[in-house]
Formats: sequence, C-alpha cells, structure tokens
Amino acid sequence: MEQFDFRRMAFYQIWIRSFADGNGDGIGDLYGVYDKLDYIASLGVDGIWFSPIYPSPNADYGYDISNYRDIHPDYGTLDQFRKVLDRAHALGLRVIMDLVINHTSDEHPWFLESRKSRDNPYSDYYIWRDPKWKGEARLPPNNWYSQFEGLAWEYCPERAQYYLHVFAKKQPDLNMDNPRVREEVKGIMRFWLDMGVDGFREDVITFISKHPQLPDGLPYLPAINGLPYYKDGPNLMQYLREFRAVAQEYGALQIGESPMTPIKTAMTYLTGKDRVLDMMIQFDTMMADCFMTEYVHLPFSLPRLKRAFSKWQHALAGKGWNALYLENHDHPRVISRYGSEKYWRESGTMLAAAYIFQQGTPFVYQGQEIGMTNIRLGSIEEYQDVATINAYHNFRRRQPVEKRLRHIHLASRDSARTPVQWDGSENAGFSSVKPWFSVNPNYREVNVEKEEADAQSILNFYRRCLRLRKSSDTLLWGDYREYFPRHRSLYVYERSYRNERILIVCSFSERAQDWTLPKGYSPEGCTLLLGNYEGGTAEGKLRPYETRVLRWEANPGAAPKDPPAAP
Ligand code: GLC
Ligand code: CA
Repeated sequence: MEQFDFRRMAFYQIWIRSFADGNGDGIGDLYGVYDKLDYIASLGVDGIWFSPIYPSPNADYGYDISNYRDIHPDYGTLDQFRKVLDRAHALGLRVIMDLVINHTSDEHPWFLESRKSRDNPYSDYYIWRDPKWKGEARLPPNNWYSQFEGLAWEYCPERAQYYLHVFAKKQPDLNMDNPRVREEVKGIMRFWLDMGVDGFREDVITFISKHPQLPDGLPYLPAINGLPYYKDGPNLMQYLREFRAVAQEYGALQIGESPMTPIKTAMTYLTGKDRVLDMMIQFDTMMADCFMTEYVHLPFSLPRLKRAFSKWQHALAGKGWNALYLENHDHPRVISRYGSEKYWRESGTMLAAAYIFQQGTPFVYQGQEIGMTNIRLGSIEEYQDVATINAYHNFRRRQPVEKRLRHIHLASRDSARTPVQWDGSENAGFSSVKPWFSVNPNYREVNVEKEEADAQSILNFYRRCLRLRKSSDTLLWGDYREYFPRHRSLYVYERSYRNERILIVCSFSERAQDWTLPKGYSPEGCTLLLGNYEGGTAEGKLRPYETRVLRWEANPGAAPKDPPAAP
C-alpha cells in the first residue's frame, strides 16, 4: 500500500501515565486522552505517538511489556483505544504505537515459559548462556553492564543459566536470531495495523541483533561497555527488512530509536529505495550538555548542539528525512537544559523556532508546548524511574547527598514524567485526586489554561511555529544552511527554496547580543514572519533568548525547483 506523506507532518508524543486522568484514580489514561484530542489537534500537529500503553508491571513504565495485544488496565481497554483511534482519525491525526521488541517483561508468558527449562517451545526466545566458572565461583557469561541496573546478566536456577538484559533485570532481551521470535514481532505489528494504527516508533530497534559470540566489553566502562556488541549488529538489516515488508503491506510509518548510531550507519537504514526506516531518533542533539549519557553532566555548549543539528541536516539532505525533537520521555526538560528557567517564556519560544524550522518532521513531547521544566524532588525516595534510582545509588557514592541530588535534578528522566499541567487548580487539573507522581510546584504559572489566554505564551508560539512550517514550501523542503557555526550564543540557519529565503535567528544568551545579517543579505525587503518579542527587525540587538524568523523573496533569476517526490 502507498505510504502517506509523513514529511509534512508534526507529531505529539503522549506518555500516558502523566498525560490526563479521565477516571479519577490519579493515573493518566485513554479516557483522559480522548477528552484532550481536540486540544492536541488545536496545536497543529498531524499525529500522535503513544509511548507504550500495553499491560506492563511498570519496572520501566510500559517499556517492559507483558502482553503486546492489549491495553494496560490502568489506561483503559481495547475498546476505549479504538474510540481514541477513531476520534483521532476523524480529527486528521494519525496514530503510531511504540513497538518494544528488543525485550519483554520478565512477566511476559514467553519468559515465564522460557525460564522453566532448556527444552520447551519458548526456551530459545531469549538470550540464555551457561555460566563461566572460575574454580568454584560462578560468573556471568561476559562482563557487560546493563544500561539501567548492575550487570547485564541474571542467573536463573531452573535452567542453571543466565539471561541477558541490556536494560533492567525485569527486561530480558529477546533472541531475535530465532525466526519464531521474528514471526511473533510481525504478528504484533499486524495486530495493531489491522486495527487501523498508522505505524510504529520502534524502541531501541538497532539493539536487536547481538554479536553471536557476545564478547567481553571494556572492563572499566559502566552501563554501556557491551554496546559495541549489541548495537547495529550483524543481522540487523535482514531483520529490519523483514519488518519493513509487513509495514509496507499497510503503508505504515516506521521510526526507529537508535542511540549512538553513527551517521554512516544511519544512512544505510534511512536512505535509498530499500530503506528500512523512514526516520530515526538520533541522540546527538541530546548531548550538548553531557558526555555519553545525561548522568555525566557538562556545561551546555551551543556549538556542540549546532554541530549535531547541522550534521544531520546535511547528511540527510535530499537522501532521507529527519525526525526533529528536543524532548521526550527519556530526557530532562529542554528549557532547564538548553534554555533558561529565568527567561522561561523567551527561551521556551526560542527553542521551538530553533528546531521546528529545520528540515524534518518535528515531534513535540507532552508539556513541552507549555514550557514545563525540571522537577527538583527533595529525596531519591520520591523518584520513580529505575534508571534514575540506580544511577543515584551506583554513582558518586562518596559525594554528599545534596550534590548527588543536584545531579538527579539535572539529569533525571522523571522531569519529563510529572503530570501535565492543565490549569492552576489542585493537582494542576491533571486529576481530581492525588496523582501517582509529584506535580511540579510551578503549575500555577505554567499551565495550559493560563497560556491559552495569553497570545504571547509558549503554547501559542508552538501553534504559530507549526502552522507556519506547514504553510511554507521553503520550511518544508528548502535547503538548509548554517551561519556563524562557531558563535557561542547565536544559532542562525537559513532555509531556501525557489526564490525565497528564510533566516531563523536564535539567541541562546541571557545578555543582549549584537546582530548583523550574514554576507549576501540586506535589511531591504525583509519581513518578520515570527518573533518572540514585540518589534523584531532584520538587524539590531537581540534581546535575551530572542528569536526572529525573517523572510526575503530574492534571486528572481533562480530556476524554480520541483518539490521532492513523495517518499
Ligand atoms: C528506550 C525507551 C526508554 C526505555 C528503553 C528500554 O530508550 O525510550 O524509555 O527505558 O528504551 O526499553
Ligand atoms: Ca485514570
């Protein structure tokens, strides 16, 4: 079946547990989603990505699935999901699901069977290995650490073997080399596609093919020492091609999450007629204030962020398509990282313009559109996320508690998981009862209701950005060019198409910045399409975190270009 044109779209991501509670138990659910569909459509997005809403013991809040073909009772029923799907479609919103098939929950029936013995129909569904022995001492098969929780191996007495878990203990990795497991994946895809969903965001999909020998990694590198042997593995392309064939029968969209994949490898997934993914969630743009992971914090560096932006813009130009994002459920809030809580509105709006007008399909994460910021909880006991809690207990153990907590405030994924702030009433309008997780105390200032009423709010600025992008061939298809790449406070990029040029000027500074147009530009004939202050002009000092989106109609002699062919 022919695929829809995802390049014109923008997506909204829902992490349901904290989105909106429709039935008054303190937990977000599909009833709440249903009530907010008009709001989502009002943003000017064209699709929703649901982080997992399937049954799950919630060791990793939904990313540990115990049944792929149902809805978590906390969130509703399959019937309620169908209602949401139909209503979303009626509003012109496509719906994509999270496909988490690198691992299951250890409570999934496959694993419950698999762990019983070495010869049962499911015994080969997971990655089991014999122990290594050092004299009497039983050791795991290799030295890999898991990304979330200690070593990557867990011993199972029934089989006298270890199973591999790249993430938490309760997330055993599936053995994708087993053709039966791949058939299961295809069955899951068909189940949701037959129901009418429009595609998948595929969780750590580039981890599914492991090196056959599972060799030791570097001994002193915690969390990711096994990465070279499970990332972008030897059979990955073959497996992705098999899944692609199923998606193609339905014209479904496939977005792959792919941590730390180099561009050259990414190109093999994303380009050419036989591409296996439509878009990729890369991590480079999340690394501008940290080293390898958010838990190793560095001061924010705009040049680092710009290099990451431009690298992907150039690599995929004319060959593939970018997924653009600054937030999701795995990262702290972007205003608190790359912007400024002091210049909350200014930096929140500027950051929107900094990424939405690049070439690609923008993703907006729940709460990002109102400028939600990081939460600072008083003790580690108040946090919920397995990765946060383990990082706290395992790293920097000799530092004082306050210092360790400061790191958690900067780095925790939980900042993205506090309840969405709908209004200034108790529980931020998220629920009529005490929510499952702390509400950010700034909800009286930062909330949807308040921002609806304010033309200059972050919320209304997101709407303007998304509308402008969609109405402009230049912003959709135009060439990308960056100016002043070494500037430490300004990000300036151009989109050009036919005889139009649009320059997006973004200040990442609390101080006023001198600003003159790049060579080849003159203030004449310039119109301000969008700005986050009153009275932005082509030139003249930029105010703190100011953004201006400037347009010229020029080079009348230039030959018109045809819009790129449909994917
Ligand atoms: C992905 C998800 C993240 C999850 C991990 C393991 O990175 O986005 O939330 O914890 O995979 O499934
Ligand atoms: Ca609920």
